[in-house]
Amino acid sequence: MSAHERALARIDLGAIERNCAHLRSLLTGDSELCAVVKADGYGHGAVWAAKAALAGGASWLAVATAGEAADLRRHGIAERILVMGALTREEQRLAREAEADVVAWTPDVEGERLHVKLDTGMGRLGTMDWDEALRLAQGSRVVGLMTHFATADEPGDEYFPAQLDRFREFAQTVGRDDLVVHAANSAATYRDPGSHFDMVRCGVAVYGMDPFGEDPAERGLDPALSLTSWVAAVRRFEPGASVGYGRRWTASRPTWVATVPIGYGDGWRRGRAGDREVLIGGRRHSLVGAVSMDNVTVDLGSETDVGVGDEVVLIGRQGDERILAEDVARRLDTINYEITCALSPRVRRLHVR
Ligand SMILES: Cc1ncc(COP(=O)(O)O)c(C=O)c1O
Repeated sequence: MSAHERALARIDLGAIERNCAHLRSLLTGDSELCAVVKADGYGHGAVWAAKAALAGGASWLAVATAGEAADLRRHGIAERILVMGALTREEQRLAREAEADVVAWTPDVEGERLHVKLDTGMGRLGTMDWDEALRLAQGSRVVGLMTHFATADEPGDEYFPAQLDRFREFAQTVGRDDLVVHAANSAATYRDPGSHFDMVRCGVAVYGMDPFGEDPAERGLDPALSLTSWVAAVRRFEPGASVGYGRRWTASRPTWVATVPIGYGDGWRRGRAGDREVLIGGRRHSLVGAVSMDNVTVDLGSETDVGVGDEVVLIGRQGDERILAEDVARRLDTINYEITCALSPRVRRLHVR
């Protein structure tokens, strides 16, 4: 048997802490860092991530749902929490019980602490009606003003500065200096210090993933999550023999193939298996055949010294090689966020420092 686990996500809390300290060092004026820990901390474990982010200098937390806020409270987190998503009546009650701040874009949102959201172009939540936003912003329970950018991660585009200008004008027109004004996500935090206002809401960068989908190291970020599995079987396939559902791969020469027990049931997506790689023995190897629910199969070549029990790295470092969540995302035509969020509860999270 292997010393490894079938599918293990190791999360380096020190990396989350360092990333937060780094993000804070970028902030202008008195701007505060709000760490976004929705969707179970982008798959990293919300409570662990929240505590590490606070240790790294974040002073606020944000989530999408009232249930997520309640969960942080149940684990003893006392800092300000902003619930950013749309809430049903029942969820508004839950948010209130959790003493969380909530976002308002109509007069009928209830809560003790409201953040008025102007939709400056995201086209999703918030009011697009300037006058309505101004009216809402005069409310006595209003403690913040916010917006959200659609294209902050597309450097050089003209939409982002237009959204920023509109929001800045809104905040100036409201003219209340008792409010927390916030707009920036991770990409905006890097892209334009003019978007920092009183607080930035960073998610992806907190976890050491790059908001622009490039190498996180170039932005001073340290990926917190690595994903490993192990070699459960090594078999030799003669020319013509096939592997997996639908016989999507057939050996064209004698080939050793490893079976690795992680699949789409673990959140390791099924798409474009042939383009994707894992690390075994410090070297890159391609997936072959279809990704199935519980296993993937890996081409080891015509000769191999890989054996049952060897470690397989799907995200992270092994020897001199490294696979980033950004690399995995690129092969799947998606974004790094989706790769870590997709990891299912079947993948054990091990939090280390
Ligand atoms: C309203 C809002 N603010 C901030 C964030 C954090 O964004 P990012 O993870 O790109 O930093 C999100 C996440 O999608 C969001 O929905």
